[in-house]
Amino acid sequence: MKKDHSSQADSAQVQGRRSSGFNRMRSKLSFERLVEMGNKMGLENPLFVCHEGAAKATTRIGGKEYINFSTYDYLDINTHPELTEAVTEAAKMYGTSAGASRLVGGERPPHRALERAIADLYQVDDCIIYVSGHAANVSTLGFMFGARDAIFHDGLAHNSLVQGAFLSGATRYSYNHNDCDSLEEMLREKRDQHKHAIIVTEGLFSMDGNIPDLPRLIALKKKYDCMLLVDEAHSLGVLGPTGRGVREYFGIDPTEVDMWMSTLSKSMCGCGGFIAGSKEIIDFLKLGSPGFVFSVGMPPVIAAACKKALDIMLREPERVHKLQHISQYFLKYAQSKGLDTGAAQGYAVVPVIVGNSMVAGFLAQALFRRGVFAMPITFPAVKEGTARLRFFISAAHTEEHVRTALDAVVEEIPHAQAIVDAYVQAHQNDA
Ligand SMILES: Cc1ncc(COP(=O)(O)O)c(C=O)c1O
Repeated sequence: MKKDHSSQADSAQVQGRRSSGFNRMRSKLSFERLVEMGNKMGLENPLFVCHEGAAKATTRIGGKEYINFSTYDYLDINTHPELTEAVTEAAKMYGTSAGASRLVGGERPPHRALERAIADLYQVDDCIIYVSGHAANVSTLGFMFGARDAIFHDGLAHNSLVQGAFLSGATRYSYNHNDCDSLEEMLREKRDQHKHAIIVTEGLFSMDGNIPDLPRLIALKKKYDCMLLVDEAHSLGVLGPTGRGVREYFGIDPTEVDMWMSTLSKSMCGCGGFIAGSKEIIDFLKLGSPGFVFSVGMPPVIAAACKKALDIMLREPERVHKLQHISQYFLKYAQSKGLDTGAAQGYAVVPVIVGNSMVAGFLAQALFRRGVFAMPITFPAVKEGTARLRFFISAAHTEEHVRTALDAVVEEIPHAQAIVDAYVQAHQNDA
C-alpha cells in the first residue's frame, strides 16, 4: 500500500518551525517567570514605568508626584541649565550623531575634551569613551584577554564585567563577594597556570552599596602579577571628599590601578562608559577594541553634557557632601527601624533586603501607591532569597523624603508578607 507521507511531512515541518523559530528558542526568562507569577498573585507589572519628566529625586508618573529612589542622578546635576546650554551649543555645532566610528569617520572636539578631563581627573595618561558602560566592560575585557589568561572577578561583579570575561575566552574565577582571602586563595592556586591575569572589582557595589578593600586588592595584584580594573559606576561622584571616587576615599595613587572604568550614565548625567589608564592601554583599546572600533562614536552632545557634569561636580563639592550626608542619614534611619540593609555603608546605594522576590514586588507596589518609587531587585540580579528594594539616593533627597519612604516600608512589609503567605497557603496542594 502506498503510504501518504504528506501530512507527516507537514507536521514535521511545523514541528521544525516551532523549534527553530523564536517562539520558544529557550526557556522562559527569569524576569518573565516572575512577572507571570506576580500576575497570578495580583501583582501589577512594575517594569517599564513611563516617567513624564527627568530622572531626579522626585518624578511624575501618570500625573502623580513620587519620591524617586530609582534615579542615578546622584549629584542632582541632571537638567542643570549649564548642561542644557552645553548640549544645545554642541547640537548646533556638531548635530546629534557622531555619524561613524571615530577611528574611521573622525571625531569632534567634545570627544577629546571629555577624554582629557577624565584622564586628568584620574591623573593618568589617557582615556577612551565608549557609547555605553556595558559595552566598555564587555569590549575591554573581551578584547584584552584570551584563552591562556585568567579573569578573577568579585562574585557580585556587574553583568557587563562577567559578560566581558565570557567573551574573552579567558578562565573566569569568581571569588566570594568582597572577600580578599577568597581571592588570594584562588590567586595562589591558579595564577601560575595563566599568562596574563586581571582582578576585577567595583568601586561601590551596585547591589549591596559596600566598598571593596582597594589597598589589599592593589597589594594582591602586585604580589601575583595581575592587572586591576575598578568599575566606578556607583563610586564616581559618590566617594571621597570631592567625589573623585574610591581611590580618593582610600587616598590611593590612581596609577596603582591599571584601568579605571565608569559609566557616564550616573553622576555624569549622560550615557556611555570610559576606561582611563596608561597611554599604552588606551592606544591599544582605541585601535582594537571592537566596541570602539566597530561602533559609532558617542554623540557629541552627550560628550558635552558629561564634560559639563564633571566640571560642575569638581566646582561644587558641596553636592558630594549633601549626597554623603543624606545617604548616611538613610542608612542610620533604616537601621534604627530594624530594616535589613545588608552590607551597605551609606553611600548612594542602600538596599532593604526582604528575602522573597514576591514580597519585594508587593512591597514596591504598596510604596508606589503611597507615592514612593523604588524598584524591587530579585533573582537573577541577586541571589535567590535576598530580594530587596534598592534605594538610589540623590543629593536632592531630603530627610523628610527618607523618613516618608522608610516609614512606609516598615508599615508595608507585614502586609506584603501576608499576601504572599496567604497565596502560598491557598495553593499548597496545587500540583
Ligand atoms: C557596576 C556597573 N557597571 C557597568 C554598568 C553599565 O553601565 P551602562 O548602564 O552605562 O551601560 C552598570 C549599570 O548600571 C553598573 O552598575
